[in-house]
Formats: sequence, C-alpha cells, structure tokens
Amino acid sequence: MSARRVIGSEHIEDARQRGRIVFEILPGDIVTSLARETAVRIGMTLMDGPIEKPAHPVTDGNTALRRGLYRRSPKWVAPRAASATKARRLRKLALVGAGGVGANIAHLAANLDIADEIVLFDITPGVAEAAAMDLNHASGITGTRARCSGGQNLALVSGADVIVVTAGRARAPGMTRADLIDVNTRVIRSTADVIKTQAPDAIVIVVTNPLDEMTVEMLRATGFPRNRVLGMAGTLDSSRFRNALAVAANVTPADVSAIALGSHGDEMAPITSHARIKGRPLSVFLSEAQIATCVKDAITGGGQVVALKKTGSATVAPAHSSIELIDHIRGAKTGPVPVSVMLEGEFGITDVVLGVPAHLGAQGLVVVDEIKLTDSETTALHAAAEAIRARLGL
Ligand code: LAC
Repeated sequence: MSARRVIGSEHIEDARQRGRIVFEILPGDIVTSLARETAVRIGMTLMDGPIEKPAHPVTDGNTALRRGLYRRSPKWVAPRAASATKARRLRKLALVGAGGVGANIAHLAANLDIADEIVLFDITPGVAEAAAMDLNHASGITGTRARCSGGQNLALVSGADVIVVTAGRARAPGMTRADLIDVNTRVIRSTADVIKTQAPDAIVIVVTNPLDEMTVEMLRATGFPRNRVLGMAGTLDSSRFRNALAVAANVTPADVSAIALGSHGDEMAPITSHARIKGRPLSVFLSEAQIATCVKDAITGGGQVVALKKTGSATVAPAHSSIELIDHIRGAKTGPVPVSVMLEGEFGITDVVLGVPAHLGAQGLVVVDEIKLTDSETTALHAAAEAIRARLGL
C-alpha cells in the first residue's frame, strides 16, 4: 500500500497548469478543504479514481523521456505509434478527381512519401497538371521521393495499385448526398470502364457521394471482387465523432476511441456502446444530452461544412480519412477500421454496401469485424441497409 497522499490546493493548481480538467482522487487520499474550494474556483473536477487502468510500469529510456516531456503521471505509458516497419510502399497511387479531396490526398501521400508515383486525373483542363506540378515544386523542400503527374486522360490510372475516386458533383447547401445519385452514377460508371481495363488488379477506394450507393455502382461496373472495392466514409464519420466527444469532454482527441458505422448520411450509426474516453464509458464524462449532441454532430458534420462553404464540401478531413484506409491497406496501420464494404451476411445483412469495422490488407478487405452491438445499434445498421437499398431501387 503506498503512502496516503495529502492533496492541497497547490496540487490542484499545478494540475490545471498542466492542462488537466479532471483530478484523480485515489482511495485513501486526503483532500484539504482549500483544495476542494480551489477545484471549484478553477473548474477542476475531482474524480474518484483510479480513472485509467493501471499500466504495467515500463522503464525503457524512450518511455521515461516521453513521460518527462509530456509531464504525465508515472503510471502513464505513452501509446506507441503504429510501427511502420512492415508498411508496404505503393508503386502507384492514382487519384480520379483533383478537386479539394483528391489534391489533399495527393499532398498527404507525397508528404508521407508512401508511393513511388502519384497520378492525378481531372476533367477540368489544367487542374490535375497544376496540382501535380505544385506538389513536385515542394519536393525540393520536403525531399519526398514520390513523383507526381496529372492530366485529363483517365488512362493515367494504368497499373495503379490503389485508386481513390473522388470525381463527381459535390453537394450544394440544402442538398442531401442522395440528391447526387443520378449525376454521380454516370461518373462512376465511366470511371469504372477505364479502371477495369487499365488497372484490373487495383484496389478502388470510392469517396464520391452518395458514398455507399456509389460503392455499389463501382462494384457492379468494374465486376471486381468485394475485397477490392471499398468506400471511404467510416474513417471520416468516426473522426468527426471523436472530435465532437473530445470537445464536449474537454480532453484531447487522442484520449477518445469511437467509431461510426452505417450509411454515410442520415442513417449513420455512431456507436456509443463501444466508445471510450480515457478508456472509460462516455457516461463517466458526458451527460445523455451531451452524447446525443455529439452523435448529431458526427451525422451533420459534412453538411455543416457545405453550409459554410456554399460551394463544395469538406476536403482536409476526407483526405486524411482516405489516407487512413491506404495506411491499413499498405500495412502501416493494423486493427479494425470502419469502412464501407459489400456485406455477405455479416451483421445479418447481405447484398448492400454499408460502413462496418473491418481488417484491411494488401488485397483490400480481409475480414469484417463483427463486433457485438446493442439492439438499438443493430437496428440502426439494418435501417441504414434498407435505406440504401431503397435509394438504389433494390
Ligand atoms: C463529407 C463528404 C465528403 O462528409 O461526404 O464531408
């Protein structure tokens, strides 16, 4: 049994200065009344601990250094960055659409140096060429080995190992993603025609909206197996959900783990039963009403950006979310990741593309991770599947 601690107001103030908003009171601690008053005055929550699961003490030099640098408690063990040692470098990454999302993906991919070659396609003359040239001009500073090129000929995708399709119309304020179904179906079909002949072994990541429906179209039009046609939505929706939770709980996003599944639209299903803040259930930090607001924020996040921008939708977060999928494909990250895939009985759903947690690898989808959901979450997932089916006239 360790010695009893006496918590004085100076400890509370010190923790506040270090950015803490919650002070952990361990069994046996003595808290002075001045410390309690100080906590109320400066808005520090005194919480009965232990808050975090006890970590095994790790005493290697790096961990000790990180503890010192970030001024964490001696029990804190730094999360280790996903090891990139087994990560595969892509030979060729192709971006169909060099608008905000496509250009940002190219920028991130070049900076992260994850591909030998990055090609951009856009139907608007000069746009893809300019984006590629601009990226190459930065390489004298970034030192990236990735060479970028761009053009108006879709045959540029030839031989790519991963193709990200962002081409198509974006939403205008007041539009739902589903309003784009007709116009963007044509874009997906013509893109698929070229992909299946020029890059028959590629993994295709669809970003064009409405996401789940366009992923179904890409599967149909390419005839590719389901493992090689993925839709990017869950990584984005989950990131928005985590951000909302982090803001509401006043913690850093790294302290939040949460995913959003279902459709990339009104039938999105942010999963609260598995969500954790500092490893604990949401209810430890947030009220029901706050959690409901965060769920709504995840669902409406994309629309909020569209409403502010007036023309076009979000670009940076969707680009990071696409890179997240690419990192899982090339082995730079491991573990399940939310992604839209054609379901074949998982979660009791068949023949429709839906956002689910899945393991990815060099061939795309490896396996869907059928996590246990609550009854209402399962119902939400099934409702999303029905809505997508209805929109596709299935
Ligand atoms: C969004 C778009 C990419 O959610 O659907 O921002």
